[in-house]
Amino acid sequence: MAEYLVCSEEEIADGGRKVVACGDKEIGIFRVKGVLHAWHNLCPHRQGPICQGRIYPEVIEPLDDNCEVRTLQYNEENMHVACPWHGWEFNIETGRNAAGRYRLHRAELAVREGQIYVVL
Ligand code: FES
Repeated sequence: MAEYLVCSEEEIADGGRKVVACGDKEIGIFRVKGVLHAWHNLCPHRQGPICQGRIYPEVIEPLDDNCEVRTLQYNEENMHVACPWHGWEFNIETGRNAAGRYRLHRAELAVREGQIYVVL
């Protein structure tokens, strides 16, 4: 097992991220609702750099009284990252994609004395 120093805890603000090389792997570290999450930077679709995609809240499409979608709304409770290659979306906290069929591969983190480490 190897540990890689990423940065100090303060360097990843809530809603932020950092993508780092750890040996021959790339890991994306995100902070959502104050909690750190780490994922391998490989999209399950075609191995695109998922951790470098746009971060935004889940898009929901509420139905009106006629059962039609009139507006898009955002659910700030579920933050997603969208793969820059083909747009697949993944929940940053769970690693599940919007359809629930695919998952990101989690990386282990350790935090000691204010420093974040990836453990592989
Ligand atoms: S490689 Fe990520 S959506 Fe295709």
